[in-house]
Amino acid sequence: MGNEMRIVKKGSQDRYIFTDVVEAEGQETTILDITDLDAIRKMVADNDVRVIVNCAAWTNVDGAEASEKYDIVELLNAKAPENLAIAMKEVGGLLVHISTDYVFGGDPYNTPCKEDQTGTPTGVYGLTKLHGEQKIQATDCNYVILRTAWLYSEFGKNFVKTMLHLTATKPRLKVVFDQVGTPTYAYDLAQAISVLLEDYKKEYFNCQLSTVNYSKSGVYHYSNEGVCSWYDFTKMIAEIAGNTSCDIQPCHSDEFPSPVKRPAYSVLDKTKVKETFGVKVPYWTDSLRKCMVNLMAKL
Ligand SMILES: NC(=O)c1ccc[n+]([C@@H]2O[C@H](COP(=O)([O-])OP(=O)(O)OC[C@H]3O[C@@H](n4cnc5c(N)ncnc54)[C@H](OP(=O)(O)O)[C@@H]3O)[C@@H](O)[C@H]2O)c1
Repeated sequence: MGNEMRIVKKGSQDRYIFTDVVEAEGQETTILDITDLDAIRKMVADNDVRVIVNCAAWTNVDGAEASEKYDIVELLNAKAPENLAIAMKEVGGLLVHISTDYVFGGDPYNTPCKEDQTGTPTGVYGLTKLHGEQKIQATDCNYVILRTAWLYSEFGKNFVKTMLHLTATKPRLKVVFDQVGTPTYAYDLAQAISVLLEDYKKEYFNCQLSTVNYSKSGVYHYSNEGVCSWYDFTKMIAEIAGNTSCDIQPCHSDEFPSPVKRPAYSVLDKTKVKETFGVKVPYWTDSLRKCMVNLMAKL
């Protein structure tokens, strides 16, 4: 996700500092461990940081279920966002934080999830991400929590890249059809973040007060438009790639045992983000095509 922020913010008149715990290959990176509150405070003070966009998290959903990992997952997904929120509260800045559709899932929904719907996570990843949201809110800082879902991009490991490879190399494939959501091109999410940052800047960026109250602080949902299952997603990836020789069949989740029960229906209602910020949300297959053109050009 951070890589897509780099692309979207390239050439911006604003100063962006891209941080990570380790040096990103071939990318200018400032080392910052967001579990270290003093290090964040120093970074904020030294650079007069007014906004933090937090793309970091523990994202290994299955790996989070190992009991010995709980403390580190909670540290990264809950305490670290709280640290960032405290640092922004202290200077009257804004924290933009990415959260997840996995805060839902424990209750059987069949209509798109709204922002104020009670979180019912089914696993440690979703639970700790929900804790992160709650800890941010408890600091009373200016914040925008953006819950997103099924992220993919040209970078890192993700479902699109995996299925592009499997549908090109396997004669047949089974993919679950009983988990339904919406894929999200990380580039589109980065564009949406850019829109809300411009909105924030217009209202408050030049304000000297350290007690700014951003009127649009709150929780929002952002994914691409539309609804599909992982099976539909895979069929579309194969179709766009022209991988016609793979026989793709739908199957139930229990054919792929996993340490964590994943949400069966986690479609996000995006009305609030569209109405509040005027964000345009592309349809999922249009965005998938764009990403895959870029991905396939690299093959
Ligand atoms: N992927 C999805 O499908 C999905 C869906 C919904 C929501 N989200 C949310 O979207 C956000 C971005 O997800 P993603 O898939 O882009 O994640 P990702 O690729 O796993 O990236 C997370 C980043 O956090 C960094 N990080 C780990 N520990 C850190 C620390 N102590 N200090 C600073 N950085 C640290 C990681 O560095 P290293 O690589 O060096 O460990 C990595 O660069 C996350 O908040 C995630 O919960 C993701």
